[in-house]
Amino acid sequence: MAGTKTLTIIKPDAVRYEHIGPILTMINSSGFHIAALKLIRLSRSEAEHFYVVHKNKPFFNSLIDFMTSGPVVIGILEKENAVADYRKLMGNTDPLKAEEGTIRKKFAANIERNAVHGSDSDENAEKECNFFFSCIERFSVFDK
Ligand code: CMP
Repeated sequence: MAGTKTLTIIKPDAVRYEHIGPILTMINSSGFHIAALKLIRLSRSEAEHFYVVHKNKPFFNSLIDFMTSGPVVIGILEKENAVADYRKLMGNTDPLKAEEGTIRKKFAANIERNAVHGSDSDENAEKECNFFFSCIERFSVFDK
């Protein structure tokens, strides 16, 4: 059975251009419950840890520079089939390939500065949520 949570990051580009509110509205309007939320600035080591699977990619250093360039909003989003449904709402990693009506089509500048992150599997959602939030920072509608 598909999991009920995913982790999102509203990235520095979207925060800088005051897109937090519109993005959260799209998330709520698509049926997600916001179970945790915070505005923080990632340290280099936190960003490197979070994106460790991309360590050998040519864009890694640039991605870390970008992700530490300003504050980000981190959230846990809940609904049935959360990972797949949020990936659909975000749209393709590359905004040029993203469908109309998706967050990235509306707000992303390019494949790196792509407005939002979303977990790519239930297993990674669990890890990513645990990386950013303790149990007293979460308000789940599923884990009662
Ligand atoms: P995200 O969903 O956060 O996961 C990894 C991130 O790496 C991705 O969004 C983009 O910000 C970035 N990324 C992925 N592919 C590329 C690429 N080809 N060039 C530059 N950045 C990329």
